[in-house]
Amino acid sequence: MTASYFRTAGTLITGTGSIAEIGEQAKKLNATKVVIVTDKVIRETGLLAKIIDPLTASGLQADIIDEVMPEPPFENLEQLAAQIEGKSYDLLIGVGGGSALDVAKVLAVMLTNHEDVREFVGIERVKNAGIPTILVPTTAGTGSEVTYNAIFTDTRDKVKKGIVSPYLLPSVAIVDAELTLTVPPAVTAATGMDALVHAIESYTAIRANELTDGIALQAIKLISRSIRTAVYNGKELKAREDMAMGSLLAGISLGNAGVGAVHALAYPLGGKFKVPHGVANSLLLPFVMKYNAVADLTKFADVAEALGENIEGLSLREAADRAVRALAQLSEDVGIPSSLREVGVTASDLPALAEEASKIDRLLNNNPRWLTVKEIQKIYEEAYGEVESPAFHS
Ligand SMILES: [Fe+2]
Repeated sequence: MTASYFRTAGTLITGTGSIAEIGEQAKKLNATKVVIVTDKVIRETGLLAKIIDPLTASGLQADIIDEVMPEPPFENLEQLAAQIEGKSYDLLIGVGGGSALDVAKVLAVMLTNHEDVREFVGIERVKNAGIPTILVPTTAGTGSEVTYNAIFTDTRDKVKKGIVSPYLLPSVAIVDAELTLTVPPAVTAATGMDALVHAIESYTAIRANELTDGIALQAIKLISRSIRTAVYNGKELKAREDMAMGSLLAGISLGNAGVGAVHALAYPLGGKFKVPHGVANSLLLPFVMKYNAVADLTKFADVAEALGENIEGLSLREAADRAVRALAQLSEDVGIPSSLREVGVTASDLPALAEEASKIDRLLNNNPRWLTVKEIQKIYEEAYGEVESPAFHS
């Protein structure tokens, strides 16, 4: 028997201006006491008015907790849980990028499961559903509003750890492009490329299926056609709409089909070298894809087509190469560094990076082509610039 599960938010609300629905949605969830969880940067943008006003119009007041930290450690969760426990909140609204949404998801289950939060690390370790949640992304990238995992930093061993549980899915997710209009260019580029990697990796993943395939291809189309405009002309609403929808679709596909070696090789760069997640993914994408392509030429040719490449008359091999080249170009166009040298890595760091990446079995086992530490090091060497570039010749 093969059984695939497809899970997403209880209700998905999309469209420009759709954040105005939040008051109505809160009432439908029988909310009486609401807490908004966000970070200080979001609070300073004034964006929260778009959430608080409709809540007020529906007769609801909300307290605001704005102390979510970037790359949140477990201590951040513990400190915020202590602030909201015992206050009878019956709706938690998460607003922000991936960190704020991941924190909101886990705080909701901490209110109904009274254990050390580190006990939740791993797959399906959360025993009870949390209080209802509404998640509102303010960047187009992580897809955290529709994934049932959340990533935290363990300060004890400096390793990122994941909590995976269907109880982390929100009751409602509201994806409104208007909330992303003020995201600065570098963040738009990094988060947007992260979303594109989610779409491409999940489309070519071992766990991909018919349901996720259609969603992933549409995500690739939307993101690749609009990311340049979103980065260089951020007020252009149509581009932001494509990015918001593309990122959401990529998140749904990632949530159900998973990602692979690009993410596995990107994670070690976040630890020691503090390379932002989206930048690391985007930098590594062409190199990993070049390695992966021969394992599933048809799918990589599909990626080329979804990227808008003209593949008429090309063999599958040529079309797959075209996808690799187009992605290297796209990454360069939006200002992402194209080699590991540029992000502070030295040649002597590569063996340790490869060793660390080779331990991330959860992702490597979902990659369309097997890798051992030897192949991983070779890919890092290419990305470092020691061997032939992946930008294929036409
Ligand atoms: Fe990612």
